[in-house]
Amino acid sequence: MKTTAAITGVQGYLPDNIVTNDDMAKIVDTNDEWITSRTGVKERRILKDGASSDMAVEAVNGLLKKTNTSVDEIDLVILATVTADYPFPSTANVLCDKVGMKNAWGFDLNAACSGFIYGLSTGSQFIETGKYKKVIVVGVDKMSAIVDYEDRTTCVIFGDGCGAVLLEPNNEGLGIQDFILKSDGAGRNFLFQPGGGSVAPASIETVEKRMHYVKQEGKQVFKFAVTNMADVSAEIMKNNNLTSDDIDWLVPHQANLRIIDATANRMGLPKEKVMINIQKYGNTTAGTLPLCLWDYEKQLKKGDNLILSAFGGGFTWGAVYLKWAYNS
Ligand code: UT7
Repeated sequence: MKTTAAITGVQGYLPDNIVTNDDMAKIVDTNDEWITSRTGVKERRILKDGASSDMAVEAVNGLLKKTNTSVDEIDLVILATVTADYPFPSTANVLCDKVGMKNAWGFDLNAACSGFIYGLSTGSQFIETGKYKKVIVVGVDKMSAIVDYEDRTTCVIFGDGCGAVLLEPNNEGLGIQDFILKSDGAGRNFLFQPGGGSVAPASIETVEKRMHYVKQEGKQVFKFAVTNMADVSAEIMKNNNLTSDDIDWLVPHQANLRIIDATANRMGLPKEKVMINIQKYGNTTAGTLPLCLWDYEKQLKKGDNLILSAFGGGFTWGAVYLKWAYNS
């Protein structure tokens, strides 16, 4: 049987510090009712000290321990983030050093909220070809580092968090079956961080104009997200001859409960089959999907059919179809 790449472990890390909607109402002109009804978020975690790599260290150390994997066995680390420790070197390099993964090479992957499915699909190729035996894919974001806490339209949505998975070869036909990945740079100005890159290098002016913060045209992004996340999820079902009965779990990016509901409806899935944790963590960008897998890990059974689906800045979007490979 063909070698596939399967997730053989998942571990998350969330900062202890909980910030509720009532806490947000003390910072900006908002309220729990608005945030809950428009987004589904009730609270988020905010990292007080440290960087994205520090959250990734916690998740990866936990992952290695629970999968009985030694640091020396890891071949490759793909780290998806929009809040890297530095513009360069990559946070994957920092992470490998901090954890002691001396035999691994790694790189950062920038695909905003779709970062984890881009990383999962990329990592799976190294396993399927037989090149590598153990690949770690991390989705991490410290959104509090780039969110403007004077902008109520964005600051209430995002949170900090990290999830990491181990990918290994599988010869039982489990693991990643298919993926569809898409991008459209025409959407770049609807959701982006305008300052700090080569277009507008950091200067007093870029700081004064608050250009180092996330800017989002929420309504526009919402429109594209609803359509594209639902379309791509339906497309991957069709390509693999899957009906709603065949699917055990939808693992959707946690940007907005209304977008999640629209995607589930389009796929014909009842709420019980949809992973949702936006109420606890908000939108952790690259972290949402592995954090869902982590939260629901105990409910997953070997052979379960999962569709992971995401939409984010770029625009980037896509879906992954995988068969869960273990009982925990
Ligand atoms: O993860 C990456 C992809 N991102 C997404 O998928 C996000 C997509 N967009 C969204 O989820 C939604 O557009 C938001 C949650 C960002 C906003 O929800 P909305 O229903 O589109 O609200 P809106 O932007 O149309 O604003 C409606 C009203 C406005 O007031 P007026 O102009 O009607 O008087 C806003 O000023 O709500 C106001 N508003 C707020 N009120 C209280 C905006 N933010 C807030 C707030 N609290 N935090």
